[in-house]
Parts: sequence; C-alpha cells; structure tokens
Amino acid sequence: MSEALKISTEQVTLDLPITDGTIKATDLKAVPTSAGPLATYDPGLMNTASCRSSITYIDGDAGILEYRGYPIAELAANATHLEVAYLLLFGELPNATQLAAWDKEVNTHRFVHENVRGIIQSFRYDAHPMAKLMSGVASMQTFYPSARRIDDPDARRMNIVRLIAKMPTLAAWSYRQSIGRHYVYPNDELGYVDNFLAMLFQSQQRVYRPDPRVSRAMEVLFILHADHEQNCSTNAVRAVASAGNDLYTSAGAGVGALYGPAHGGANEAVLAMLREIGSVDNIGAFIEGVKNGKARLMGFGHRVYKSYDPRATIIKKSCDDVFAVTGVNPLLRIAIELEKVALGDEYFVKRRLYPNVDFYSGLIYEALRFPPEMFTVLFAVPRTAGWSAQWLEGVTDPEQKIMRPKQIYTGHRARSVVPIDAR
Ligand code: ACO
Repeated sequence: MSEALKISTEQVTLDLPITDGTIKATDLKAVPTSAGPLATYDPGLMNTASCRSSITYIDGDAGILEYRGYPIAELAANATHLEVAYLLLFGELPNATQLAAWDKEVNTHRFVHENVRGIIQSFRYDAHPMAKLMSGVASMQTFYPSARRIDDPDARRMNIVRLIAKMPTLAAWSYRQSIGRHYVYPNDELGYVDNFLAMLFQSQQRVYRPDPRVSRAMEVLFILHADHEQNCSTNAVRAVASAGNDLYTSAGAGVGALYGPAHGGANEAVLAMLREIGSVDNIGAFIEGVKNGKARLMGFGHRVYKSYDPRATIIKKSCDDVFAVTGVNPLLRIAIELEKVALGDEYFVKRRLYPNVDFYSGLIYEALRFPPEMFTVLFAVPRTAGWSAQWLEGVTDPEQKIMRPKQIYTGHRARSVVPIDAR
C-alpha cells in the first residue's frame, strides 16, 4: 500500500510520498510560507530520521533492543564483546574460525604509540578520565594518517581494528594516571575484557586474573553498551564524520558527547543521588522533591524507551553475579526500593518513566571499586564498537550529506553599527 501526505495551503496542494513512515523533509520546501519555504522545527531531533541504518533496532514502547536482528538478551547470554563488535561491523555473527581470526586481529593492536602515554601523562592529577580519553582518541589520527583515507576500505578496516583494540589501553591509562600508578601494558595472553581489567587493576608484576564471574559480568555490560542506534554520542560521531572526518576525530566527538550527565554520565549521577538519599526512609521525601521539580530521578526515563529498558533487566541480574564476589553494595537496597516507589507513583507512570541502563550499572562498577568518574569511561570502551559501525555505515552511505540543520532566526536584522563613542 502506498501512503502519501496531502498538504494544502492557500497557494499550493502537495501529495508527499510516505516511505518507511517518513516524508522527505526537503519535499516540504515546495510549500511557500511568509517566512520562506516550509521546514520542520525539531529541537533534539525528536521526530527526524537522520539516516538509514541496518545496525540496531529499538522498539521503545515494547522494550525491544536488537543488534542486526538478534535480541540483546540472547547476545548477552551467548556471545563475547568482540563477537558482538564483529556482528555490528560486518552484519553477521562470526563462525569459530572467523571469531578466532578477529580476536587475534584486534588483540594484536592493543599497544599505543609511546607518545600517547605522554599525552595522558601531561594532564593534571585531578583531570577527569573522559577528558584524557577524548584527547587520546582524537590524537590517534596523527599517529595513523591512513585514517584520513576514508574512501579506502582497507584503511577503514585497519583503523577500526586499531581503535577498538586500543580503547581499553587508553581508558585504563587514563585511570592509572589519576591514581599515580605505573601504566600496565597489554598482555597477549589475556582476552579483551580480562586484559582491560588487568591494565586497570594490576598492582604487582604478577598477572592480574579477575574472578570469572566478574569477567563475565563485565563482558555482559560491554555487550549491553555496544550500540544504541542514533543516540546523542552516535549522532555526534556521524555529524563529525559527515564533514569527511576520520574515525578517530569522529569517535573523539562521541566521547565528548557521552561525557554529558544526561547521556553517559548518568550512572555517575545515580550513585551521587543514592548517596544523597542515604537511607530508604528518605525515599518518600526525595520522590516528592523530584515531582516538585527540585531534582531528577537519575537513571530513570529515556528518549526512546517508554517501558523498561531491556538492558536494565539484564544488568539487574548481573548485579547478583558481581555481588556474590564483592559483597552487596549497600546502596542496592535504596535503589531497589526507589525503583519500586517510582514505578508505583502516578507521576512516573503517566510520563512512562522506567529505569534505564544507568540505574544499576553504577552499583556494579562501584562494587568493583571503580571510582565514579570511571563509569562513563566504562561505557565509552564498548560503545567504540557501535561508533565504529555507525561511522562506517555513514561514510559509505551515498545518501549521506554534511550535517547542517536549519535554524529559526529570532535575532535583530540589518542594523547599522553606531560608532563606539555614540553607544
Ligand atoms: N526524573 C523526573 N522527571 C523526569 C525524568 C526523570 N529522570 N525524565 C523525564 N522526566 C519528566 C520531565 O520533567 C517531563 O515532564 P513534563 O512533561 O511534566 O515536563 C517528562 O518526564 C518528559 O521528559 P523529557 O525531559 O522531555 O524527556 P527527554 O526524552 O527529553 O529526556 C532523558 C530523556 C534526558 C533521558 C531524561 O529522562 C532524563 O534526564 N533522565 C535522567 C538522566 C538519565 O538517566 N540519563 C540516561 C539516559 S540513558 C543513556 O543515555 C545511556
């Protein structure tokens, strides 16, 4: 069935074809208005598709998240993070031979140029690790000039592998610099996640080997964070890439976007909130404050999910695995009770506000002794797979154009400059 939208004004009647549930915004230009050709006004791009994508599917009303058609829960239960990265990048799950070759390819590129170490080292002792990570990622295009050849498939693949491989090294070193510990170099004998944990936590010469339950929980968290279609940071990556930029420059912008408290910084804010609440007895007063606009319930609400975020369900289960090793985080009780109260409160029900991925992830990270400022870094490392896949799809999409939205101009017009002594 072909669908169309009829638009009638005094001057013109237009039949606009509807394709994939959208009209072409530029078709609206055929409608004249007193302010020029008709356009849409959409702050936050709440109802605007900016690209076609076959990577990640979300149905926010039904709480569905799929990577390349595979439900997130199945991937979290059965795959490794690098397996999922392969799926996101190349469209299919690898077979055993392909996975072994892919693991090897990625894991042999974990070392960074020694000068990158100097870049991270040059930051002040109290610099946020996301700032170090952003600089480290952006700097990589200067070490790998082939990244600028975005039309060369071999160069694209090589630099995607490099970024995914080196991200844990940059992230771990950003942390080690903060605590004044020596940098731990990648260890070929360890898998992607275990090597990351070793670079973070190893304190002696002895190889750090995490508890397998912790390692698996991190792997699951990585899978859950690997992609999430056109969110703020992915949009930033695609916007920067649309100007013809390499992966490192584009991903650097993604790290910057993710840093924001309304995006990847929310799990850090959740812990601060739980601490501020302090006890289950104070939950009622806190919720009243939220309803009166004094605070936001961090880790609740989502632009797309209007039901339970499927990632939050899986993370809640991972909490049990991690707490079995580390002991229960005392803030968990407050979080569980807070969730219960909010889900039963008219304010949250009416606005369809449910826990999102960040509500429980911070509790796990804290139990693993990560300082709060590392939480967003732990999001950025796995999201690199998604940013890379989205960057690749964007730079190879013939329909893509440099991103350049319109504005509604509200300022003065055509004023004359008055000489400074007459103002
Ligand atoms: N606490 C209290 N009220 C909320 C919350 C919240 N967490 N989230 C939304 N609302 C309310 C708004 O005040 C608004 O109410 P109103 O209609 O009376 O004005 C209504 O719900 C709609 O909210 P918007 O801000 O318009 O929704 P939007 O889609 O723009 O925002 C966002 C989504 C930014 C995630 C928001 O829900 C929020 O700030 N949540 C807390 C931060 C957070 O957890 N971020 C992580 C998101 S997941 C991620 O990035 C990985």
